[in-house]
Amino acid sequence: VALDRLDRALGLIASIPDYPEPGVVFRDLTPLFADADAFVATVDALIEPFQGRFDAVAGLEARGFLLAGAIAVRAGSGLVPIRKQGKLPRATESQSYELEYGSATIEAHRGDLDPGCRVLLVDDVLATGGTLGAAVRVADRLEWDVVGAAVVLELDALGGRDVVGGIAPALDIRSL
Ligand code: PRP
Ligand code: ADE
Repeated sequence: VALDRLDRALGLIASIPDYPEPGVVFRDLTPLFADADAFVATVDALIEPFQGRFDAVAGLEARGFLLAGAIAVRAGSGLVPIRKQGKLPRATESQSYELEYGSATIEAHRGDLDPGCRVLLVDDVLATGGTLGAAVRVADRLEWDVVGAAVVLELDALGGRDVVGGIAPALDIRSL
């Protein structure tokens, strides 16, 4: 993906002070998703480092779903949702975690993917790393072969990369 094209796309991300609570600067990707060229450029840039190396993409609820669906179609891969607790109807593996503004539990179905399946984890934002760290734990329990994690935006100051690195030191995390 041409850098100027990707730069324009990332420039559409809005920063909202004090949302959803005082002290948090919320990064809103909806203007990027709303722009056709920006969305395609972003999706292609997320795929690029992992092209041909994953059988399925796992999208993290909810904003990761938007990216994961597009990645799957563009890359010709399968798709699994990693959902907030209580939304998946069959047996799951789950993991609780803390995030910048609260706590949550995420889970994925057992049996949607076979053990050893090559999976790319996808989300819009890496902040404290709670979400991605929990996803790695779920993926491990499901015996997925996680080839990496792709996010649009990494908030360096929140140290998410180190948190996830403490759980999965070898995980290849790419942020645009
Ligand atoms: C946001 C974002 C990431 C996560 C990152 O999701 O989309 O999934 O927070 O934060 P962390 O690195 O501190 O875990 P959120 O839980 O707000 O859910 P949503 O996508 O359903 O809005
Ligand atoms: N998830 C966690 N922290 C976030 C932030 N500051 N903006 C958007 N999503 C987030």
